[in-house]
Parts: sequence; structure tokens; C-alpha cells
Amino acid sequence: MPALPLILRAPERRDYAQELIDRFGFEWGSAVPEAGYWLELGYERLELCTQGKHGAVYAEFVEGAARHRREQGGGRGQPVARAIGLKSAKTLPTVVDATAGLGRDSFVLASLGCRVTLVERSPVACALLFDAIGRAARDTATADIAARMTLVHADAIAWLASLADADKPDVVFVDPMFPDTDKKSAAAKKDMQAFQQVIGDDLDSAALLQAAIGAADKRVVVKRPRLGAPIEGPRPSVVIEGKSTRFDLYVRKALS
Ligand SMILES: C[S@@+](CC[C@H](N)C(=O)[O-])C[C@H]1O[C@@H](n2cnc3c(N)ncnc32)[C@H](O)[C@@H]1O
Repeated sequence: MPALPLILRAPERRDYAQELIDRFGFEWGSAVPEAGYWLELGYERLELCTQGKHGAVYAEFVEGAARHRREQGGGRGQPVARAIGLKSAKTLPTVVDATAGLGRDSFVLASLGCRVTLVERSPVACALLFDAIGRAARDTATADIAARMTLVHADAIAWLASLADADKPDVVFVDPMFPDTDKKSAAAKKDMQAFQQVIGDDLDSAALLQAAIGAADKRVVVKRPRLGAPIEGPRPSVVIEGKSTRFDLYVRKALS
């Protein structure tokens, strides 16, 4: 995919815009394109934009749904926490989120106290995360959570394979983008369609699962739609079902 243009809406943020361009390989944009996608850096945040009915997409850890989950979330009893093994864990597991996306799952786990390394290969998703972690670090309500989140711009298949034994995490979390065949859920997430179209489907999930199993000291957790097929490969050892989501667990050792 050609480099996305980045349009600066807040002139005093030119240095930061240049940093984003240098880090993630975007190019300067001067006018809104007639079609396709572009990034906009405003006073508040970085957004992925497109023409038409889609709203802008951005990662957010301070306000909105993240705030709600932080203040009212289900704590260690919620399905994702149980899947990671938090409910009975005496020490908090270290987690690699191998498919960080917009960081929502990582943020929940970091809110619960885990140290989370977010690995993301898409430059667009990684830039949105970089911006959101920066904003969370500057807000007193979320600064300690942001300090537990480390962002890595890499393909997790190679990155996990390169980890030394001493750096292996307790848990690797995997939530790949599958082709969306569910019309209802597609309609419900209109804004996310822009994100999905820019990122594309993850067609190498089987290789990612293998790399995750090789790198996780204790377990791999795969997030899937409740009725979705498991990732091709070994069968999960445990399955945890939520209302719309399922977690397939590949357990190596019990979390102590
Ligand atoms: C469905 S989204 C994840 C959503 C995320 N769980 C959240 O809470 O926002 C999948 C993301 O994983 C990323 N991804 C898929 N395979 C990857 C890989 N091998 N290495 C790094 N990132 C990967 C994609 O670029 C995409 O951004």
C-alpha cells in the first residue's frame, strides 16, 4: 500500500507530525484526497479519516468506552481477564498482545495491572496507538496504566521468534482480523470498516499461533467471535465463551 498522507490541522504540532512521518513512513499531505484514506493530526489527537459516511478512527484510552471500562469494568472476573488467567493468579502475568490493533484489549489488561507489550505491524494502527499511549501518559487518570504499556512496531511472527528465553512473556494474546462475514456485526461497526479496509485481513494467523505457542511461557489466548472457527493448528486446551466473544486457550503451564 502506498504511504498514507498526513494532514496537519494544528500548525504548532509540526515537529510531532514530522516524528510520526519519520517513524511510520507516512508522507506530508496538503489537501484532503478525493478518495481513499488519510491521517489528520489535530490539536487533540491523530485520526484515520476517509470520505463518506465513516467517522474518523482513533485509539482512545482516556475518554469514552475506555473510561467506562476503567471505572465500571468487570475487574478480574471479566472473560478476557479469566482467559489470561488473572482470576486465580497470585502474581500478575506479563503479556504480549501480538495483534495490538487499537489497543482495547491491551488497555483492559494494563488497567488490571499487567505489563503489556503491544506488537502491531500496520504503520497506521501503530501510529494511532503511539498517539493514544502518549495522551494516556499525559493524563493523571491513566498515566500509571500507560506506563505499563510498551509499543513495538513489528511483525509479531518474527518478533516472537526472536525473543531470548529470559524475555519470554507468561501470556501471548492473539486477536487477528478475519474476513467479516457477519452482516449484522459489520453494520454495527461502520467506523471500524475504515480501519479494517486499511489494515486488511490477517491471512497468516496459523503461523502467528505457532510463533505464539513457541514464545509463551504459560499460555496463548486467542480471541474469536463466539461462533467463529478456531485458528488452524493445534486444538485449544480450554475454551471460555462470552456473550459475543470466545477465548481459545492453549495452556502450557498453570499460572502460579
Ligand atoms: C482485530 S485487530 C486487533 C484488535 C485489538 N485486539 C484491539 O483490542 O483493538 C488485529 C490487528 O492485529 C494486527 N496483526 C495481525 N497479525 C499481526 C502480526 N503477525 N504482527 C503484528 N500485528 C499483527 C493487524 O494489523 C490488526 O491491527
